[in-house]
Amino acid sequence: MLRKVIASAPGKVILYGEHSVVYGEPAIAIALSKRAYTTVYSLPTSTIEINAVNYGVKAEFPQKRGEVSLAHEKFRMLQPIWEACLQVLEYTNTRKGLRVIVESQIPKEAGLGSSAAVAVSTIAAVASLIEANLTPQVISKLAYEAEKTVHKTPSGIDNTIATFGGAVLFQKGKITEIKIRKNLPLVIGDTCIKRSTKQLVLKVKSLKEKYANIVSPKIKNIGLIIPRALKALNEGDLPTLGELMNINQGLLDALGVSTREITKLIHAARNAGAYGAKLTGAGGGGCIIALTPPEKQKAVAEAIKEEGGEPIITQISLEGVKIEKK
Ligand code: PMV
Repeated sequence: MLRKVIASAPGKVILYGEHSVVYGEPAIAIALSKRAYTTVYSLPTSTIEINAVNYGVKAEFPQKRGEVSLAHEKFRMLQPIWEACLQVLEYTNTRKGLRVIVESQIPKEAGLGSSAAVAVSTIAAVASLIEANLTPQVISKLAYEAEKTVHKTPSGIDNTIATFGGAVLFQKGKITEIKIRKNLPLVIGDTCIKRSTKQLVLKVKSLKEKYANIVSPKIKNIGLIIPRALKALNEGDLPTLGELMNINQGLLDALGVSTREITKLIHAARNAGAYGAKLTGAGGGGCIIALTPPEKQKAVAEAIKEEGGEPIITQISLEGVKIEKK
């Protein structure tokens, strides 16, 4: 029997502060109970076989960079997973044949940290298989490096949340842990519309340049939400957290990153009893997030579905990366 390890890591949402965080304001992000799972087997060969179950794509990779042509679609799709494996093998100076199977509960390219969760779970699984004792700090750093080769400029939020779980405050590249006192029942609504974070960041930048004295105060206003939200998180005050989400949404709308589809899902969630709802991540499509009383999660999910969104019932997860089976 081949030796095997299964590891998992959570996805994330930005609760408050997307876009304004680009201009030095604080943001709050939390880990979700939806996770990416990586199963790794030890192979007697020198290849790295990768199977991304959600994509329905498989390929074999070498243990060295540059020996594969990324012109092929399937290699490009699987490159981030290969990169995560290489990070561990290079860090530990190991050569090892691997079979890597990735299955994720987190929709991809929706601003939910799917790629970081996959990188972190893959790094943890490979490290455990080769009996390298990596600290969470090292796992997070290797995932950041893997993300950098693929996405170029990650903020560091996604790999941190996927590794440590829970909630973090993020400002000017500095990440601080936040203690959460109460569960946060959430419903995510995926518009299933793909968007480019880079383009939306540029859109806000040009609006800010054109209307500096109007747009800059909006960005500052979003920043002012964060201390109020931290207090409400500390007190477990869900109605206040919901109201602050609604205010944040209004300000994001003013920055030009909301859309008709996002607005439809937000109103559906609020009408079905959510405390509050807003877009999460870059906007322009992607996902909304609604905070709800626990007994309203199902009704909110149904309302999102009726408006054409893909609902995901979830909550905050205090659990970061984890070895599921060894
Ligand atoms: O949708 P995501 O997870 O890529 O989040 C983007 C968050 C922004 O604030 C819009 C950009 C950034 O780099 O912080």
